[in-house]
Amino acid sequence: MLPREAGLHRSCCLIDRAALKHNMETLKKGLAPGAAIAAVVKSNAYGHGVKIAWRAFVEGGATWLCVDSLHEAQDLRDDGYDGNLFVMGHVPPAHAKAAVELDVRVMCYDRGQVDAFGAASSELSKPLRLIIKLETGTQRQGLKIGDALELVKYIQKFPYLVFEGTCTHFANIEDTTDHSFAYEQLRIFSEYNDILTANGFKPAIRTIANSAAGILWPNTHFELVRAGITCYGMWPSTECYVSAKLLGKDVDLRPALTWKTVVAQEKLLETGSVIGYGCTYQTTHPTRIVVLPVGYYDGYDRSVSNLAHVLIHGKRAPIRGRICMNMCMADVTDIPDVKMGDEVVLLGRQGDEVITAEQLAAWAGTINYELTTQIQSTVPRIAV
Ligand SMILES: Cc1ncc(COP(=O)(O)O)c(C=O)c1O
Repeated sequence: MLPREAGLHRSCCLIDRAALKHNMETLKKGLAPGAAIAAVVKSNAYGHGVKIAWRAFVEGGATWLCVDSLHEAQDLRDDGYDGNLFVMGHVPPAHAKAAVELDVRVMCYDRGQVDAFGAASSELSKPLRLIIKLETGTQRQGLKIGDALELVKYIQKFPYLVFEGTCTHFANIEDTTDHSFAYEQLRIFSEYNDILTANGFKPAIRTIANSAAGILWPNTHFELVRAGITCYGMWPSTECYVSAKLLGKDVDLRPALTWKTVVAQEKLLETGSVIGYGCTYQTTHPTRIVVLPVGYYDGYDRSVSNLAHVLIHGKRAPIRGRICMNMCMADVTDIPDVKMGDEVVLLGRQGDEVITAEQLAAWAGTINYELTTQIQSTVPRIAV
């Protein structure tokens, strides 16, 4: 059975609020002096449900939240968050007025944006604080120092615009234990900030650190660490975990998400039966399977067809055949007495067994970030 709060849904995610708070407290303890921590709660809090997550992080000591878009910022304001809020993704000039009204920090890298932000802030007679994105090697948003300096000078023309800080993002810190590229990005970021300061534009906030840098290198913390994946109790990668161990860092992260469904039907198949679309699995002996009311529409990745396991009665049941849009099938031949309504864990712990996001991600050929983020936002998130 699913909890009552799941309503008419056939799967739900239980979110361990205490684990989220614990992770934030743990990360906060590792901060360099003078640094604050921002919890990255974009993409429905990496799939954990933003309404549950932001409160747990603020309770745990986060003094900033980061999102990708203004509509996510709007959701947080509507939900009662009135603290520091940084929109890291693209804010189109057409949305400038909303940015001022929502009182967010905006990532800025373009004159067209500055014109629109300047006009909107003057019209509303309200300040708008801008963080300039610096290009240090990721080749995503951002400006090299010459253009950044020009933009910061240009910002001064607008009475309500405030140049508050600088930001950049690591390209290659979690995919490797060779951190030479990341060190070079840090060097460039520091140099650019020095040049801005020497020209009379000292950034009040400098932010480069993500989760990996937050754990590995205090010298990247500056005024603000933007931590995402670690807030949710997951490591950015195995390489990052190994790097942390090599540096003697012992960080206790606790995963917070359990995704559950129920058995929809149980049936016995004869030897030689094929299962699901494309007949990709054929039984070699009498086989008992269950049908589960979850599919790729819900975010259960189709690429785990014939690969993943789910947990039933505390035991592993292999997925058989292809994941369908709204259903999938699992083999319970070795698990006695399974019946309709029994609880099934797709991700998380049941008894002594656990399916981690990393394991499911490996079956899907992707990373833990994508795995939890892709769970449909319509699947209820229930705080426990
Ligand atoms: C600009 C920016 N900052 C910070 C983060 C957080 O990264 P992580 O989840 O690795 O901590 C992200 C994540 O995608 C990001 O895009």
